Amino acid sequence: MGPTKVMQAITSAAAILATASPAAGGLVVDTAPTTPQPYVLPNLRGSAVDFGGLIIRTLVPNTTSCGSLSIVGVNSGPSPLNLIHYHKEFEAFYALKGGVQVFHNSNQGRQVQANDFVLLAPGNNHTYRPNDLDFQLSLCMAPGGIDEFFAATGVPYQSSAPFNPEDQSELNVTKVLSLMPKFNIVPEPYNTINIEWINGTTADGLDTWHIADQTLPTDPSKPYFISSNRGPKYLQHGSNKVIAQLASGKQTNDKLSIATITMKPNQPSAQIKFSVDQALQVTEGQVHLQIGNDTAQLIFGDLAFIPRGTYFRYWSTVGFTKFINWSAGQGLADSLIEQSQEWSHATWPA
Ligand SMILES: *[C@@H]1O[C@H](CO)[C@@H](O)[C@H](O)[C@H]1NC(C)=O
Ligand SMILES: *[C@@H]1O[C@H](CO)[C@@H](O)[C@H](O)[C@H]1NC(C)=O
Ligand SMILES: *[C@@H]1O[C@H](CO)[C@@H](O)[C@H](O)[C@H]1NC(C)=O
Ligand SMILES: *[C@@H]1O[C@H](CO)[C@@H](O)[C@H](O)[C@H]1NC(C)=O
Ligand SMILES: *[C@@H]1O[C@H](CO)[C@@H](O)[C@H](O)[C@H]1NC(C)=O
Ligand SMILES: *[C@@H]1O[C@H](CO)[C@@H](O)[C@H](O)[C@H]1NC(C)=O
Repeated sequence: MGPTKVMQAITSAAAILATASPAAGGLVVDTAPTTPQPYVLPNLRGSAVDFGGLIIRTLVPNTTSCGSLSIVGVNSGPSPLNLIHYHKEFEAFYALKGGVQVFHNSNQGRQVQANDFVLLAPGNNHTYRPNDLDFQLSLCMAPGGIDEFFAATGVPYQSSAPFNPEDQSELNVTKVLSLMPKFNIVPEPYNTINIEWINGTTADGLDTWHIADQTLPTDPSKPYFISSNRGPKYLQHGSNKVIAQLASGKQTNDKLSIATITMKPNQPSAQIKFSVDQALQVTEGQVHLQIGNDTAQLIFGDLAFIPRGTYFRYWSTVGFTKFINWSAGQGLADSLIEQSQEWSHATWPA
């Protein structure tokens, strides 16, 4: 699809949607709203639970995206290996800081550090073990609902600390196991995992993990890993934005599109809107966002939710900005990629 067709598709799909407006108090909220509306949730805010030592914050509730996706934040220190399980949904991890070991099926594993990405395709057994003193990850699941699983099984967490390094709390395993079926989670406690790792990877990743380019699979049943800046990249010449694609419709049966967008200081973009729900989360620098007459500034970890059909502008005034673009279908990153050429670097040309 060329850019014009995308814009037409967007316009026609949006025409049938009521335009959502920001809440009366402006875009910035303390807790993610539970109905579709644009908002900005600052880093480490939002309704939170302690899930056996992992602090899980709801960034985009299932209800807010009308079921298209859920996004939660995870903060912890070193934690034990989680229960091996699989889902019926697509699950994606983007590490914001620190590190976590992620295991897929019985044969693959990676040490996932800041800006590394994991896509867990439905039906694949997996588990993880945070192993850094200060770890933060964003987890997106499509279709949505996982936020409600954590809310139902975790213990309310009230502190403004990212997590509690002296946490002694334990999961109520009976409750967790009994609620899993309702949320399409299947435990596989007898699955084995490969712990034979060298240089942060199992043998299949030795030639590429953190050291060489990686490609996205074409088969949506395949789980995969992309290390920081090593996946497919595109340069949009006019604006010098670099779009690094992490997952597109091909890898997710059109459930998700995920990319990072790297940009230099620029003027406000024209007003744009899309026919899918999107969230933008800053990992470096700063983004200004304007929706209606409201503007907000986002820095590390802050997330903006932009419902389908909402007009917005975005720009930056600092030297180097990077944000993750989570989208429940073809969104901003896809439309930028259509106007871009392949590019082998993580930053724009001087
Ligand atoms: C998520 O939202 C959709 C749409 O409202 C709903 O059909 C689905 O049951 C929700 N999922 C969960 C786990 O509550
Ligand atoms: C664990 O959850 C089960 C089922 O919800 C409940 O009956 C039990 O009292 C809980 N145990 C503790 C120690 O809270
Ligand atoms: C998940 O683990 C179970 C138990 O070991 C195994 O039977 C099943 O084949 C595994 N699934 C995949 C996709 O490897
Ligand atoms: C592990 O990394 C080191 C340092 O980069 C390298 O010299 C070594 O060959 C790597 N080991 C394997 C098995 O690739
Ligand atoms: C934005 O502000 C202008 C000027 O004050 C006003 O005319 C317009 O109605 C406002 N738009 C919205 C969406 O609030
Ligand atoms: C976010 O990604 C979606 C899907 O790739 C894309 O359509 C949308 O334009 C992106 N949003 C921004 C602000 O780049």
